[in-house]
Amino acid sequence: MAPTSPRKILVTSALPYANAPLHLGHMLEQVQADIWVRFQRSRGHDCLYVCADDAHGTAIMLAAEKQGITPEQHIARIHAHHQRDSAGFLIDFANFHSTHSAENRYWSEEIYRRLKANGHIASRAITQAFDPEKQLFLADRFIKGTCPRCKTPDQYGDNCEACGATYTPAELIDPVSAISGATPIEKDSIHFFFKLPEFEAMLRQWLDSDTLQPQVANKLREWTEAGLQEWDISRDAPYFGFEIPGEPGKYFYVWLDAPIGYIASFQNYCERTGHAFDPYWLPGGDTELYHFIGKDIINFHGLFWPAMLHSAGLRTPSAIFVHGFLTVNGTKMSKSRGTFINASTYLEHLDAEYLRYYFAAKLSSAVDDIDLNLEDFVQRVNSDVVGKIVNIASRCAGFLARGFDNRLAETCAEPALLADFIARGEAIAGLYEQREFNKAMREVVALADRANQYIDEKKPWLLAKQEGSANEVHAVCSVGVNLFRVLMIYLKPVLPAMATKAESFLACPLDWTALDTTLAGHRLGNFEPLLTRIDVKQVEAMVEASKQAAPAKTPAPTAKAESLPASTIAFEDFARVDLRIVEIVAAELVEGADKLLRLTLSLGDSQKQVFAGIRSAYEPADLVGKLTVMVANLAPRTMRFGVSEGMVLAAGPGGKDIFLLEPHAGAQPGMAVK
Ligand code: MSP
Ligand code: ZN
Repeated sequence: MAPTSPRKILVTSALPYANAPLHLGHMLEQVQADIWVRFQRSRGHDCLYVCADDAHGTAIMLAAEKQGITPEQHIARIHAHHQRDSAGFLIDFANFHSTHSAENRYWSEEIYRRLKANGHIASRAITQAFDPEKQLFLADRFIKGTCPRCKTPDQYGDNCEACGATYTPAELIDPVSAISGATPIEKDSIHFFFKLPEFEAMLRQWLDSDTLQPQVANKLREWTEAGLQEWDISRDAPYFGFEIPGEPGKYFYVWLDAPIGYIASFQNYCERTGHAFDPYWLPGGDTELYHFIGKDIINFHGLFWPAMLHSAGLRTPSAIFVHGFLTVNGTKMSKSRGTFINASTYLEHLDAEYLRYYFAAKLSSAVDDIDLNLEDFVQRVNSDVVGKIVNIASRCAGFLARGFDNRLAETCAEPALLADFIARGEAIAGLYEQREFNKAMREVVALADRANQYIDEKKPWLLAKQEGSANEVHAVCSVGVNLFRVLMIYLKPVLPAMATKAESFLACPLDWTALDTTLAGHRLGNFEPLLTRIDVKQVEAMVEASKQAAPAKTPAPTAKAESLPASTIAFEDFARVDLRIVEIVAAELVEGADKLLRLTLSLGDSQKQVFAGIRSAYEPADLVGKLTVMVANLAPRTMRFGVSEGMVLAAGPGGKDIFLLEPHAGAQPGMAVK
């Protein structure tokens, strides 16, 4: 049963940078959002999905320059490619706009004026590296030099790819501009800042309001508690972006106008179609707003964005839906291994719906990374979609066409079975709503198993050969088709193209709102193959093509690091872990955290405080005086309860069984562990 009054929902996914093609990581996000949007629509809600290209910034300016074209030409080219690739994956945007647009200029200026009028903009001079040849301020990643620690040349300004050291560009030996090769100088200029600290109370409330996934809220709380900083929202000319009103030569930083692009894209849609705009962005409307994003950009969406919206008198999002990163075959996507797969390369070799199904079968509401295991992909799609779902229809269609002129029986022979399938709808809808797509797919596949089992038991292929069994064949195949119809309603958000084909076979729409009907005495359309099996060769060809598309690798150390599976670390990484024997000198309960203990650890000549999740296994008093092993050089982490300055090593399944690693007698606190 669908709710009576339709919800009004606006959905966005993060705006891809207009400097590179879309890859399968982007598609994970767009497919996740698209499935959710299509689900809402199937349930009768008014749900719109908008996106845009994120077109501003130094990188895009330089990329255009390199090709000898204007930034406008460059972003127009990419825009067309992005639109084509998203369409190829059946992403149903109401609008795919650009941040380099009149609407976005209007809203960026307007929001900035409101923030300024509210006293939320500060300005002061800061000192930065400057390229005297290009006459350009240099962000850290545009400065290269020799690592101050391991002396590897040609490292970026913020971290060393060889030894992992992090530093400021000023610490690099022989720094040069990555753009011109000139030696950077230091130069002052006025920058504009958004006074984020003034929003601490507002943000605390927002973080506690249950609109965010727990892992995301915790991470953002950690940052909030470590102290909010003013956010630098300006960049100096030359910059590809919008000039700040009244501040010649100063531009909005790309991340200031990027999320405003959500508003701009929606406004552009409203202007084209006459759709209402205000109820979606002014507070107090009866609409919902959701942003689908990856875990790398939660500070922008979870802190800066709600604070900006709040100051500007606009509504804050109903929720932010954060997903993890896509890995391929268990590791980070790698160009050299052919697993950095562009959306267009995939589409040249494989049907979009294979991947839409696979992503659905793996996605949940958690922030965990999602692995595309190529072998599992082939196996899972062939077995679930082709072998189970499509199979139900193809087993029944032939008999119905040959013997019954494509007309279904006048009554359903298994009303209880069909009712059971329909009854699962509310639970499956609940899973979709919660973005537990993997669980929804499991439910659907379990139902498909039951449908196939029913047909297996009735054996229409044998009945068809028996004199006088025509009615039974008719009955069984008609039941099969009805069960298939229900399953396709459940799968339509994931497999929209297959659903369209199924709609013409079934000669009826597959909307959730029409779940409750039985097809009886109904004339079917002709059956056409819905989806064919994946041939492993197609996948191999895609991987091969991705290897060829990869540009030659420049820095050797990266290539080396990338050729290691993500689950292993180099010996050098291990050697950097400082393991020490420590004595637990105090252990206390932590108020408000029922899994944690606050441990005071003695390293002999110093003490450290560590929060350890071992309360379920130990009484605090039993720990005092024990020796254990800790990671002593872990970067301190600010938690809700205080700073944790390391990690205690323990093992076990959890609950009462967590075993601290206990060194032998003779060990002294502070000893290194070899
Ligand atoms: N332009 C910014 C977003 C601005 S939103 C106002 C940006 N662009 S991006 O192209 O780098 O990423 C776009 C989205 O794709 C982000 O949500 C990002 O997390 C997601 N992904 C990029 N690589 C990804 C994977 N490998 N896996 C899953 N999602 C990933 O960030
Ligand atoms: Zn180094």
